[in-house]
Amino acid sequence: MDLNGKTAIITGASGGIGRATALSLAGAGASVVLNYSSNREAAEEIKEKILNSGGSAETFKADVVDYSQCEILVKSAIDHFKRIDILINNAGITRDNLLARMKAEEWHAVIDTNLNGVYNCCRAVIKPLLKQKSGGRIINIASVAGIYGNSGQANYAAAKGGVIAFTRSLAKELGSRDITVNAVAPGFIETEMTDQLSDQVKKQALEHIALGRFGKPEDVAEVILFLASSSGYVSGQVIAVDGSLSM
Ligand SMILES: NC(=O)c1ccc[n+]([C@@H]2O[C@H](COP(=O)([O-])OP(=O)(O)OC[C@H]3O[C@@H](n4cnc5c(N)ncnc54)[C@H](O)[C@@H]3O)[C@@H](O)[C@H]2O)c1
Repeated sequence: MDLNGKTAIITGASGGIGRATALSLAGAGASVVLNYSSNREAAEEIKEKILNSGGSAETFKADVVDYSQCEILVKSAIDHFKRIDILINNAGITRDNLLARMKAEEWHAVIDTNLNGVYNCCRAVIKPLLKQKSGGRIINIASVAGIYGNSGQANYAAAKGGVIAFTRSLAKELGSRDITVNAVAPGFIETEMTDQLSDQVKKQALEHIALGRFGKPEDVAEVILFLASSSGYVSGQVIAVDGSLSM
């Protein structure tokens, strides 16, 4: 798992899975661009941790919902580290509600962040990647909800299902340029996102996980690292990291 000389952008890097991914990629030698939208302190803390262990990292603020901010994020990354090789589209939100009660804002906020945000970052990174002519790795964080659906998450499942279809299409578009595009579909991972769920929902989810435990951000980061550093013959795939929740 050698990423020396590579630069990786991780969106939403101050959150649970983003943080674990940043530490994992930096540990493999990548220079990491830690994108955050509001939690600067958390992003700076991860940067310090990476620098203190001899790695290379920089923080950049950008809202993935805004295309021009994504363009600036990619440009800043290239200005700073001189190249770009890996994009991890990890930023995401939930606004759970049954559809009968779901407000338009809840629908649009989730589609804007979780689906349009992936389009924005991919669109911004593609030209520089193609210009560099040295291939690349794009990894989109989807969800098992995007494959199987989930009651109370029609907005989230629609966005993540869209991310999966987008991933497969982009893999076909970019394969000939040695750019692989894959999705990781986590199940129930212990982060701030799942902290908000009630004990009853957690208990029900646990009953369906054969491994008998919720996932840790590191469980997801390990698969992301594999895809980021693989030789490049895996593309257009969706890898579930869910302890068999979706089986
Ligand atoms: N935790 C789970 O069980 C689980 C399951 C399936 C999929 N996922 C997905 O994994 C990814 C990471 O989630 P997490 O569990 O670490 O949650 P988290 O809430 O800890 O992290 C999400 C991060 O995204 C950032 N973010 C949100 N909106 C943004 C925006 N507009 N621009 C830039 N950054 C933004 C947040 O600030 C936060 O740092 C998300 O895409 C999520 O949908 C998580």
